[in-house]
Amino acid sequence: MKNNKYTVTAALPYANGPLHLGHVAGVYLPADIFVRFLRMKKEDVAFVCASDEHGAAITLRAKKEGTTPQEIVDKYHGINQKAFADFGISFDIYSRTSNEIHHQTASDYFKVLEDKGSFVKKTTEQYYDAEFEQFLADRYITGTCPNCSNENAYGDQCEKCGSALSPLDLINPVSTLSGNTPILKETSHWFLPMDKHEEWLRTWIKEGKLDGVQQHDPKLWRNQVNGQCMSWIDGGLHPRAMTRDLDWGVKVPVEGADGKVLYVWLDAPIGYISATKEWAAKNDKNWEDYWTGDSKLIHFIGKDNIVFHAIIFPILLKEHGGLVLPDNVPAYEFLNLEGDKFSTSRNWAVWLHEYMAENPDKIDELKYVLTSIAPESKDAEFTWKEYQARINNELADILGNFVNRAVVLTHKYFDAKVPSRGELTAVDKDVIAQMAEFPPKIEGLIRKYKIREAQAEAMNFARLGNKYLAETEPWKLAKTDMARVETIMNIALQITANLTIVFAPFLPGKASKIAEFLNCGTLDWNLAGSAEILASGHALNENKPSILVSKIEDTFVEAQVAKLEASRAAQAVTASATNSNISHNPQKDETTFDDFTKMDIRVGEILEAEKVKKSDKLLKMLVDTGLDKRTIVSGIAEHFAPEDVIGKKVSVLMNLAPRKIRGVVSEGMILLAENSNGELSFVSPEESSFNAGSEIN
Ligand code: 2FM
Ligand code: ZN
Repeated sequence: MKNNKYTVTAALPYANGPLHLGHVAGVYLPADIFVRFLRMKKEDVAFVCASDEHGAAITLRAKKEGTTPQEIVDKYHGINQKAFADFGISFDIYSRTSNEIHHQTASDYFKVLEDKGSFVKKTTEQYYDAEFEQFLADRYITGTCPNCSNENAYGDQCEKCGSALSPLDLINPVSTLSGNTPILKETSHWFLPMDKHEEWLRTWIKEGKLDGVQQHDPKLWRNQVNGQCMSWIDGGLHPRAMTRDLDWGVKVPVEGADGKVLYVWLDAPIGYISATKEWAAKNDKNWEDYWTGDSKLIHFIGKDNIVFHAIIFPILLKEHGGLVLPDNVPAYEFLNLEGDKFSTSRNWAVWLHEYMAENPDKIDELKYVLTSIAPESKDAEFTWKEYQARINNELADILGNFVNRAVVLTHKYFDAKVPSRGELTAVDKDVIAQMAEFPPKIEGLIRKYKIREAQAEAMNFARLGNKYLAETEPWKLAKTDMARVETIMNIALQITANLTIVFAPFLPGKASKIAEFLNCGTLDWNLAGSAEILASGHALNENKPSILVSKIEDTFVEAQVAKLEASRAAQAVTASATNSNISHNPQKDETTFDDFTKMDIRVGEILEAEKVKKSDKLLKMLVDTGLDKRTIVSGIAEHFAPEDVIGKKVSVLMNLAPRKIRGVVSEGMILLAENSNGELSFVSPEESSFNAGSEIN
């Protein structure tokens, strides 16, 4: 039989922070289970991943931590690579997009598309932060999402509703560098005319056909993925810039592109190809075998990545030519933590590397819980209480208990040798028939990306074992009918051997521990379902079995919850102390006392106020300054109604040169304080006896 080739990818995590359980449950663990299963089926798989080291996520983090992007990616690549390895995510390669091979691959890929005329070069106006002298792409700009009104949407994407955005789509855009409203400035970029690809994408996604040839089974794509893609296409695709004005990333490899790099969402998925190349080169393989012909490309991702993997990357693959398109894009919903969203900035998370450092003996315990609650079709929630309940009531009480009884009783009655079977009763025959049904059922679910249900079926298989022992009660029969006990224990051991196979993709550590008890080595998936795996007389491990799953104590749960609560409390203190330190602008350049004394600032009282005609922002006020009554125009009409400011005492910069604003001469400036929410307040004397004309110095 010819084996298929598979390229299974897991979304490249940004190297701007550590991984938390939300990432693990919704991408890396299901991908790993899928791949472990394929390997057991002897399929030829390349399981690739890497750190995503470019883009604004990295440069912004570096700025926040006062360090360089290189230091940031080195630090988090190291932490995440180790956490994956410790947790047993069995990537064939975990690379990084800063590697030379990736820069070369992405650069070459861009040139192929440029030569084919896949891009359109256009000069457009883009947001620019005049203070920082920088264009504001992607995460450098935030604002309100036009689709779901999330006020914290990024310039490239709204993480709440998953829509991909352009900075110009945002309502009330704000620069994340200065906190200012950006201005528009012209710049040239290479655009992917996505609008030209609508037609084939529609057929490919809906029917799985490309140029009339069946490529994939559209029924196997999740509703969420189909739904998001179709709503995108139905809403009309627009050209999207594939380059950015930034100095961190893969340089645009054409003339006249100085200071420009590839858009991170062009460069990152090409990272899947570069990683495959790197792995193939080191393992005497040909990378193209995994990206061409019948090879199946499968992208495990979070739901916020759907558009990039199911629309943009397929366009890029098709434009390149000769490469396969995704066979499936299993996307996961989000996992929440103890009633709240995982949040890196608020430190509301269980970090994988911390869990591994503290609980190196509870790897499969965590895997079991995360798969049990995997957010496959809707958002799900992780709580430490449920972690404890799943481990104690299922993993320990069902799987652990059954395996322990089967192995311990064999030691006790048969000197640790597999007894032979005698005549079968109806109960035995029924159990043997059910034994044969579980593996294909589990296989079918895994192949449909229903990993959570597949694991639940594996646990049902262990339940069957428990039920069988409870019904047949060999410990009672041992006094009267040893021949019958031989048959029962033989069947119980065959179930145990089956469990090492069907649990291997999900709980590789526990599966090999059971195999160790049975002294049976690694068993092939093709044996699963058989009631003849262990021959009569086969010697189990001579040592009595150790505990397969230890129960989780209440004190463990309490400590974990307390740790989270402490992090929430610490966060609240920091937040109130700094009142969001992100939006404070750096201190301005030094000035002199002489320069300061040149400014004449006095208390003024607003006598009259009205909106300037045809302007939403300007308020025209008559201000008593003690010296005179003068007109001052200020851009505060969106913050204060005219009737609310009349009678207010304010600080007035008196000797600012008069300026004509919308035809009105403004003779001074009113000083204002602005908080991090953009709210304004007059700077006013606290005491009422400080009348108009009091000097401020
Ligand atoms: O959303 C993210 O975390 C991205 N770094 C995922 C990139 S996946 C891919 F395209 F490489
Ligand atoms: Zn949104």
